Amino acid sequence: MNRRSFLNYGAVGVAALCSGVVVSLGAVIKFLTPSVFYEPPQAFKIGNPGDFPFGPPTFLVDEKIYVFRDQAKGFAVASAVCTHLGCTVAHFSSDNRFHCPCHGSVFAADGSVQHGPAPRGLEWYEVTQSRNGQLRVDKDKVVPPTYRLMV
Ligand code: FES
Repeated sequence: MNRRSFLNYGAVGVAALCSGVVVSLGAVIKFLTPSVFYEPPQAFKIGNPGDFPFGPPTFLVDEKIYVFRDQAKGFAVASAVCTHLGCTVAHFSSDNRFHCPCHGSVFAADGSVQHGPAPRGLEWYEVTQSRNGQLRVDKDKVVPPTYRLMV
């Protein structure tokens, strides 16, 4: 091996080493960067009280909540997210209960578990009335199932 070919091999080796360091550095940077999940706001307006009928609850798909309006008791908002693995429960007016289509959990009208595997009842969220009259739900504020907003 002459000197020139030795230097050529050396240059290739240095280039391979540099590319390896760059790839490794990229992996380290990615590992150290936190994975951030952006969630939608947990407090939001859902509309005017008159938008919600009395009787069976109104399901809001995007928010995954059920809005109950009762003439005597007022407004209540229940989560539509099953506490087992997060499927969306369906409210059946025929038996006034929530049924999870994934693994068969059944929740009573107050959200309590009647049939597993759900480990706990559905959550109820605080609902208030904002200054402009719209209803405002805050998913960060869990309230008892008896909580009502009279409007
Ligand atoms: S996700 Fe509802 S029962 Fe499993």
